[in-house]
Amino acid sequence: MEIRELAESDLPSLLDLCQRTLPLDPFSLPALRHHMLNEPSQHPAYQLSIWDGARLAGVMVGGAREAQGRRDAWVRLFAIDPADRRKGLATHLLAELESRLRADGHTRLHVANSVPNYFWPGLDLRYTAGLCFLQKSGFQRAGDAVNMQVDLLARDWDTTDAEARLGQAGFTFRRLVPGDREQFGAWLRDHWSAAWHYEALSSYANEPISTFVVLADGRICAFASYNATTFEHVFGPTGTEPALQGRGLGRVLFLRCMRDLKDLGHPAAEICWVGPIAFYARVADAWISRTFWFLEKEL
Ligand SMILES: CC(C)(COP(=O)(O)OP(=O)(O)OC[C@H]1O[C@@H](n2cnc3c(N)ncnc32)[C@H](O)[C@@H]1OP(=O)(O)O)[C@@H](O)C(=O)NCCC(=O)NCCS
Repeated sequence: MEIRELAESDLPSLLDLCQRTLPLDPFSLPALRHHMLNEPSQHPAYQLSIWDGARLAGVMVGGAREAQGRRDAWVRLFAIDPADRRKGLATHLLAELESRLRADGHTRLHVANSVPNYFWPGLDLRYTAGLCFLQKSGFQRAGDAVNMQVDLLARDWDTTDAEARLGQAGFTFRRLVPGDREQFGAWLRDHWSAAWHYEALSSYANEPISTFVVLADGRICAFASYNATTFEHVFGPTGTEPALQGRGLGRVLFLRCMRDLKDLGHPAAEICWVGPIAFYARVADAWISRTFWFLEKEL
């Protein structure tokens, strides 16, 4: 078997492998292309695959980020063909990734949550073999996160009354438009993080643009995005300026996103890496559907 870096032409084989090995997630070619090729910090040398002739036997997709003087590395996605399990392939691929990372000066390896471009906030515990493999490989639990699910078919997600009431208080709700890009980008940078700046602006790539904003006196003061950088049907990020929190702006934005997702044909939405669990339980009867562990090891 031969280890090599994944190429764009490997994406169909990668999709087939992901669909067969990661059944809890809706992998698609656009999602994989976005994650492999539009990575904000491209490191092809960390995106490893192992081949049995022309057949893709497994992948260990790594990545790295440098922010505020800190360098971090991730295993972003890993999978071995069921026909090739328990032969040491994942161990072999991880050893190769770790050796390349060490040679580049990395000292710590995380799993999955490579914000702003990531599939999961951590390892979904139901990928049990994945967890066993990581623990055997020296990773330790460093925290946890949950995703929540919303039944989109249960409601019509109408916001007319709430928008009329908030309209009287001077707030306008609308979808982000191309002309907002400069103001929205600057506002995200000023009020939120570099990660949310990247994630929310990614929604410009979608048709329709998958962000709603609130304006007060022509100024953006809250936003909510969906289908940003994880999977399709996923809500987030969202934020209301602290001084305006508690007035119902975030609720209306969230419901507008749910209505869009329902109109796009999704029966359910997933809220990624929550956050205010009680808020989503209250406004949408959302329930905790997935539990993730953060996992880390020293290199
Ligand atoms: C997890 C996975 C990549 C392991 O691949 P693999 O090539 O079979 O792993 P290895 O042969 O290198 O296993 C090394 C060790 O990991 C542990 N391990 C691997 N699979 C295991 C399983 N099903 N149950 C318990 N332990 C397991 C064992 O300790 C194993 O050593 P051993 O075989 O000597 O007992 C593979 O099962 C897989 O593709 N799973 C689905 C993908 C996934 O869950 N990804 C997580 C999200 S990115």
